[in-house]
Amino acid sequence: MDKIRIRGGRPLHGSIAVGGAKNAALPLMTASLLTDETLVLKNLPILADINTLCNLLLQHGVGIRMEGAGGDCAGRVVELTARDITNTTAPYDLVRKMRASVLVLGPLVARCGQARVSLPGGCAIGARPVDLHIKGLQAMGAEIELEGGYMVARAPNGLRGAEFVFPKVSVGATENLLMAATLAKGETKLINAAREPEVTDLAHCLVAMGADISGIGTDTLRIRGVERLHGATHRIVSDRIETGTYVMAAAITGGRLEITNTSIGLIQSAVTVLEQAGVEFSPTPDGMIVSRANGGLVGVDVMTEPFPGFPTDLQAQMMALMCTAKGAAMITETIFENRFMHAPELMRMGASITVHGASALVRGRERLTGAPVMATDLRASVSLVLAGLAAAGETIISRVYHLDRGYEQLEAKLAACGADIERLTDDD
Ligand code: EPZ
Repeated sequence: MDKIRIRGGRPLHGSIAVGGAKNAALPLMTASLLTDETLVLKNLPILADINTLCNLLLQHGVGIRMEGAGGDCAGRVVELTARDITNTTAPYDLVRKMRASVLVLGPLVARCGQARVSLPGGCAIGARPVDLHIKGLQAMGAEIELEGGYMVARAPNGLRGAEFVFPKVSVGATENLLMAATLAKGETKLINAAREPEVTDLAHCLVAMGADISGIGTDTLRIRGVERLHGATHRIVSDRIETGTYVMAAAITGGRLEITNTSIGLIQSAVTVLEQAGVEFSPTPDGMIVSRANGGLVGVDVMTEPFPGFPTDLQAQMMALMCTAKGAAMITETIFENRFMHAPELMRMGASITVHGASALVRGRERLTGAPVMATDLRASVSLVLAGLAAAGETIISRVYHLDRGYEQLEAKLAACGADIERLTDDD
């Protein structure tokens, strides 16, 4: 299995282009199931998770054409055509590889009146049930039974509009119900819906496909179902988590990075916290310039929350940053119940972290030291990369396949800015 070796202590200087958002691209690709015409998505990131979803969509009968896969992200295009859906089963083998596969459930039931989608099973960061996806579709008239590890959904006469109040904010359930509601009979009202930029991006694409949606960007979405959707061309929003990760790479190494093909507005809550911690931002027409203030970093408290709050997907990176700040930082995770798996690994690099339930108290240290470490999920892995970039000596990170799920060309982008980072394959 591949590993990443980092020799730390070099400030990063240069420019990094951010790609399209993985977590927007995945639901957008499943939206292609809602129409028999072609959906064209631009700014596509090339990632393992995108490949996994391509394989799932192919076996549903979707035709897929990709252009510019070798070039930079902005020039990348995928064309998805679900002229005939030949199979409405999403098998365990594919769903267990990637939970976002459950996003085919809403579109398949809405378009075909049936779907059989494997339950995703356990996850490293928490139990992550899909009960809200199921309850929402049931409210829209779908009959759903659990059979042999599968959600078997039927709506032979189509879905009907309904009012559904999310008892808890869920990005994936909002996306599934939003897509399903576009083809339901009558009006659907989703209350306490997720407002993440990826949900908003999906809603804009659905409108371009002919859907009737109001309240986009708020926590109440009204969807008036239409007879059919048509093809459209849509540019995938930039990846705010990749953006925030490179912001923290500049800060933790004491360097200065220009981050392009993105927007500071996508990470406003993180910018507010990071400015308090001593990170300086200047906006540019297509992104921002980031550097660490002269006085160095100071500890700040952070709590993860649904958008527009501080994103859980930047919590691990923030923890790595706080490990090198002056003073203490209390980091509280409110979205997932088991998302501190990176803490013991950071401690192997000399960090001082005490975890009490949903909070972690980080006491900053002058310097981390390199060590062999291992990660359990995508964001935990990248937090170890950040720690390695700042640490004295050599860090070897194993299980890097997690990184390939969500960070395109991570080593190349960092190395171009002066990082001493390389991938070791089994042959090395
Ligand atoms: C999305 O996951 C993202 N994934 C996650 O990114 C992200 O961490 C998460 O949203 C929160 O922002 C994609 O977009 C593909 P949720 P999702 O439903 O939709 C509970 C990454 O690193 N819940 O908003 O699965 C759930 O257990 C990943 O890129 C229910 O209880 O997250 C969690 O505690 C990791 N019942 C909370 O809600 C449900 O039916 C929020 O989960 C659904 C969710």
